[in-house]
Amino acid sequence: CGIVGYTGHEEACGIIIDGLKRLEYRGYDSAGIALQQQGELIVRKKKGKIADLEKFIGSEKLTGTTGIGHTRWATHGAPSDVNAHPHTSSDGRIAVVHNGIVENYVELRQKLANEEKIEFRTETDTEVIAQMIGVNYRKNGGNLEDAVYDAVQEMRGAYAIGVIAADTPDRIVAYRKDAPLIAGLGGDCKFIASDIPALLKYVNDIYLIENDEMVVCTPDSIRIYDENRRPVRREVMKVNWSIEDAEKGGYEHFMLKEIHEQPKAVQDTLLRRIDDDGRICLDGISLTKEDLQNITKIYIVACGTAYHAGLIGKYAIEKMARIPVEIDVASEFRYRDPVIDEKTLFIAISQSGETLDTLAALREARSHGARILSVCNVVGSSVARESDDVFYTWAGPEIAVASTKAYTTQLVCMYLIALYLGDLTGNISREYYDHILEELLAMPDKIQQTLDKAPEIEELARHLYNRTQVFFIGRGVDSAVALEGSLKLKEISYINSFAIAAGELKHGTIALMEPETIVIALATQDRLFEKMYSNIVEVKARMAHVVSVAKEGNDKIEAESTEVIYIPQCDDEVTPILTVIPLQLFAYYVAKIKGEDIDKPRNLAKSVTVE
Ligand code: G6P
Repeated sequence: CGIVGYTGHEEACGIIIDGLKRLEYRGYDSAGIALQQQGELIVRKKKGKIADLEKFIGSEKLTGTTGIGHTRWATHGAPSDVNAHPHTSSDGRIAVVHNGIVENYVELRQKLANEEKIEFRTETDTEVIAQMIGVNYRKNGGNLEDAVYDAVQEMRGAYAIGVIAADTPDRIVAYRKDAPLIAGLGGDCKFIASDIPALLKYVNDIYLIENDEMVVCTPDSIRIYDENRRPVRREVMKVNWSIEDAEKGGYEHFMLKEIHEQPKAVQDTLLRRIDDDGRICLDGISLTKEDLQNITKIYIVACGTAYHAGLIGKYAIEKMARIPVEIDVASEFRYRDPVIDEKTLFIAISQSGETLDTLAALREARSHGARILSVCNVVGSSVARESDDVFYTWAGPEIAVASTKAYTTQLVCMYLIALYLGDLTGNISREYYDHILEELLAMPDKIQQTLDKAPEIEELARHLYNRTQVFFIGRGVDSAVALEGSLKLKEISYINSFAIAAGELKHGTIALMEPETIVIALATQDRLFEKMYSNIVEVKARMAHVVSVAKEGNDKIEAESTEVIYIPQCDDEVTPILTVIPLQLFAYYVAKIKGEDIDKPRNLAKSVTVE
């Protein structure tokens, strides 16, 4: 979910709605706004996207210079007008927006119903927060800060909330516990938000709010308090993303823009980590050779696309550093009692740095003594802050729900980490190190050459968009890229797609092959080509429609493929950075031709801050 709050001297409605639009990738099944207007609260909320909320408000002039807004990804209570945020207390004097889950809300709700005779209007945990603050506020004679503080003492779970009161003008009180929250510092206006893009148009100076901190914003000041309500001094963080980074810049969708930004994103990520002598520099990273000599095992843990980048990381690190790597999806990791100790290096990969499953896995690993290295895109995010060391991807803001440039930059980080570890452990030669770095440095150009094939891939999508089932197969790193290609396609086109290691096909899945089933065969690995070729022959024999992805110069594959998409020549090791590009484009064009909402696919959210 996304939260925005504004207090200043301008009309707040437009500013908040604008901020919400930039946060829409965090969830978009309902949206709402509350404004403080001459001693009253005006609340408007609607099921659907922000555009539906705007339509609902229509030409109604909503005035007020202090307000809060919310875009929701439903957890408690189905998406509906009434369950949309903000929620209010029964007397309508308190409004709350909330991101996260209050775990003990049933208990709190019962208590309010019994002791205060509150009649609840919704099934949501957020209404419980609003009612609790409402009761406190009434009882304490109208002190909003005390009312919020006392309420959160009773709440368990992970949440960020923003609160306004009808009778406390020009003030937003917010509180953070395990869900993202920042405050923005304008000249005579102040903001709260769950993520930076919401504020980029207005401010570049922000405060990162820590766990168990309360923030009080007025047009002239931001005050931050710790859990004991002692004032906290916080350094201002300057954000170096520009508003253009967070806008579509002429592209029809954020996803397409982000696909095309990959040469630059990969370049930026590489150049930050390669010094003038052509060596990987780990400025700001404290992991030493001695630390590394103690490490006997590495875990890579992540969700979704980041997990797929981790799979490639496993191949690269094991090959180059000869340290065993286990990889897990974060939601499984901590419930399977993994073997972790001080000799474990735990690598968390997360674009947003706010995925709660990943964060929870990281905490589990830390509690067993592991050393934490994270790969994140968002500076100052929760995962970044809770890690010993952070390897940032320099992808810039990724807005489309389907991740693209975050994935390729995560791959770059995986290779850099693998090379660095390989060098430290003495497992790779200087020649190999230089060779792979050179291959990586050539990637921005080669990605561009692959992107230039967009018209060819659009044409392919035009032929195949109405199929109902697609298989992605590959061997070695290609089997990991197959998973990402399949995820991209299902996320935005809703076609039932499936990825499987090519050699495993014959052990069951091949039973599903029918004439004209689409098989996207990734055959970029020179050393595995013969084996892969046999798998292609197997599916072709079952009349599948085979679209192969292979390196330029591989003519042999044409005999058994219906179509071939070529990627530039490169070392087998780093092909995933290129192989994924046509798969991203294919998913994009299929979804576009089908008329789907590409940047906001149904049921998904970009940043999932609930477990
Ligand atoms: C969500 C998104 C995915 C993303 C995953 C992990 O499910 O829809 O695109 O890969 O979260 O996100 P993270 O921010 O941790 O990389």
